[in-house]
Amino acid sequence: MRDALDNPFSPGSDTIPEVWAGRTEQLSDWRDVVRPRRIAGLAERGRTILGEPGLGKSALVRRIAQDAARAGDWVTPQLRIPAGADPLKLVASALLDLASSAGLPASREKRITDALSRVGAVAAAGISLTLRNAPGPEPYVALRDLLIEVGRAAMSRGDVVALIHIDEVQNVTDEKALSQLLIALGDALTYEAEVHVPGGAGVLRSLPIAVYLTGLPDFEDMAGARKGATFARRFKSTTLSAIDDDDLAEALQEFVIHGWEVASGAGTADRIRMTPDAADTIGDLCRGEPFLFQLAGEQAWYAGSDATITAEQVRRGWRGARREAAAHVERILDRLPAREREFVEAMAALPASDRTLTRIASSMGMKKATDAGPTAQRLDTVRGIINRGKPYGFRHRAVEAYLTSDWPEA
Ligand SMILES: Nc1ncnc2c1ncn2[C@@H]1O[C@H](COP(=O)(O)OP(=O)(O)OP(=O)(O)O)[C@@H](O)[C@H]1O
Ligand SMILES: [Mg+2]
Repeated sequence: MRDALDNPFSPGSDTIPEVWAGRTEQLSDWRDVVRPRRIAGLAERGRTILGEPGLGKSALVRRIAQDAARAGDWVTPQLRIPAGADPLKLVASALLDLASSAGLPASREKRITDALSRVGAVAAAGISLTLRNAPGPEPYVALRDLLIEVGRAAMSRGDVVALIHIDEVQNVTDEKALSQLLIALGDALTYEAEVHVPGGAGVLRSLPIAVYLTGLPDFEDMAGARKGATFARRFKSTTLSAIDDDDLAEALQEFVIHGWEVASGAGTADRIRMTPDAADTIGDLCRGEPFLFQLAGEQAWYAGSDATITAEQVRRGWRGARREAAAHVERILDRLPAREREFVEAMAALPASDRTLTRIASSMGMKKATDAGPTAQRLDTVRGIINRGKPYGFRHRAVEAYLTSDWPEA
């Protein structure tokens, strides 16, 4: 009991964590809005889920995709875009797989066989099809057309959605490829197919297709500014922030009330409990960061071998994880452009009640408060690190803790 094999916490691994906390709004957005609306033929935008590293973007959409797959939907695996890679190739091969789920390769309709073979060419050559000025339509047309065929197949099947999840979208640095990708997905999402209702009248409906894009907030600039209004109208963007303490507590409730079930070796099950104190301590140390939540849980698990995790064990485990916790926050700070980093540091140095734009700007050596305005706005709306209330405050509680206290010391 309590060893590496039965430890349910998973800091950093790209799997859906067993100990899941919060994100109920986003999960219900899928279950209660996106999926039913697209199945009903109603228009509903794609979703972009952005956030600083470790906030659980990939895990969230993997979980959505898992729920979808269990409901019988056709889902792509999480398509991670490596830095500098050609996203069109990746998306084209995933689309071919979706088309197989939809049974399209068996079709004899020319429209469909054509679409499949054109996307096959994109899977092989990617964006270079455009660069070479190859004859025939641009890659995005091929992708769009096949996605529409997949959508039509889903519509005839009834009660299924084709779900596409593209991760690390900020890595699509080739502007042409990005634009082709966003247009292909956006056009398929907004496409309206004509269907005949009883009585013979033709009506237009959207297809049961859903798209999730996940990545770092920097994507907002790439897609927002350059691709402009079209992208913004077709995708609804959410910036994730820290998980609420209540949600973290709820996630650990299973340990506190019933105990977490593990195999005992003798073919029976044991339960690992957690004292209420221990659960509170994990919640307190991780500051709402999902990655740190998993890290604190994992280390507490290893800090003893008996059936109950105590607060003392949580603190002992955390001592071994402090460097990693600090490194996690440093990575977030290091990624910030110089101005933004100066801003959060200046803000952190002021007493909480003095954190106004005027005071922060002046301690950054600026003459006018408005000079710091755009930086503050980005840190709030794009990154979700601060909020511009009265006074300003931190939304990223681990960044705040790191800059204003001796955290991660327990
Ligand atoms: N809702 C959640 N509840 C509990 N743990 C979570 C949750 N979401 C994510 N995690 C954990 O947090 C860690 C980071 O999650 P994930 O890799 O999804 O973050 P990310 O935002 O995609 O990060 P990156 O920007 O580095 O790709 C993982 O260890 C994961 O298990
Ligand atoms: Mg990720």
